[in-house]
This record gives sequence, C-alpha cells and structure tokens, in this order.
Amino acid sequence: MSKEVQTNSAAPQAARDDTISVRSVQEGGPERRSSITAEIMERTGIDETMIERLVRTFYDRVRQDTLIGPIFAARITDWEHHIAKLCAFWSSVALMSGRYHGQPMQRHVGLPIGGAHFDRWLDLFEATAVELCPPVAAAHFIERARRIADSLEMGVATQRGQFYRPRHSNRELDLRSLEASGAETSR
Ligand code: HEM
Repeated sequence: MSKEVQTNSAAPQAARDDTISVRSVQEGGPERRSSITAEIMERTGIDETMIERLVRTFYDRVRQDTLIGPIFAARITDWEHHIAKLCAFWSSVALMSGRYHGQPMQRHVGLPIGGAHFDRWLDLFEATAVELCPPVAAAHFIERARRIADSLEMGVATQRGQFYRPRHSNRELDLRSLEASGAETSR
C-alpha cells in the first residue's frame, strides 16, 4: 500500500505518516488528490453526505453534554459556520480532499480542557460514528479522531508545561465489535 493512503493504528508514527501524506498529496496536485479521495470513498463508503450527517449529529450531542457542552457554548455563537468548518475539516482528514485550511492546535491550547474532556469528546464521537456509519467507515473516522485527540491533548499539556503520552490511538479498535454495535442502526 502506498504511503499516501496508509492507515496505521500506532499513534505517533501514524500521525507523522499522515503529515507526510498530506504534503505528498499536495505536491502531487489536484489530479493525484482526487484519485486518492476516490480510492478512499470506494474503500470506505465515506462521502460528503455521510460526513455532514456525522458532524451535525455529533455536535448536537456535544451541545447537550454537561461536561464539554458549556465550553463550546461559551465560544461558538455561529453554529452553522462551525459546522461548515468541521465538515471541511473531516473531509480533509477522512477523504484527503484538502478542503480545510486552519490551525486546530492554536484553537485548543487556550481552552480549559484536559484528559476528561478529550475522553468525553471521543466517547460521543465514537458512539455517533458507530451508530451512523458502516463499520469500515466508522473505523476510518475513529482511528483519525483518536490520533488527532492525542495530538491536541499533548499539545494542550505541553503548553502548560506538562507531559502527556498518547493514550487514545494505541487502544484496540476492533472492527468486529464495531460491526456488532452498529449493526442495527447503520443499515
Ligand atoms: C476536549 C475536547 C474538545 C473541546 C472541548 C473542543 C472545543 C472546541 C472549541 C470551543 C472550538 C472553537 C474554538 C474557537 O473558534 O475559538 C473548537 C474548534 C475546533 N475543534 Fe475542537 N474541541 C475538542 C476536541 C477536538 C478534537 C478531538 C478535534 C479533532 C478530532 C477537534 C477539532 C476541532 C476543529 C477542526 C476546530 C476548528 C478550528 C478552526 O477554527 O479552524 N476538537 N474546538
């Protein structure tokens, strides 16, 4: 398998591979990117409609959550704008479409968040992905969400002079149990 579409569950190495792969897709130009996007869509079944449904449902749940909801409520006034940005983000992350241009780390380092917030964010995201997406697609989203959560969690900690190891992306992700838990709702 080529480096551009490699999915690896080992956290730090995988995060570095993704950095490399985004760059090499950019260097390859739009044609190369669209063939990679097409390959991922074909293999996972993910498309922009699935991404928007996942993002909207997830943030509906986030807004109702008593632990992380208030952190968003204090900062986001235009939810449609935030949703559009997050759809572009997930399109870039999951489909390598290059639609998102932003700096998530900078947006998170000043937030009053720590391990418990990342745990809750991932619990909600993973449950939503399993519920709404077929297992291969859910696994694709979840692997990437865990790697990014690790990266943000470590970045936030470093900013405070603390040191965290990755602790989400090295957890088991069992496709069969995803299949079992999502079977009733995602079909
Ligand atoms: C501890 C859990 C988290 C909380 C409480 C949180 C909260 C927030 C808030 C309040 C914003 C808006 C910041 C602003 O515009 O000033 C934001 C933006 C964003 N978040 Fe998170 N977040 C969390 C975890 C994550 C994770 C795990 C990801 C990705 C997998 C993520 C992806 C993003 C992205 C892409 C943006 C938009 C950044 C931009 O403006 O370009 N967040 N988040």
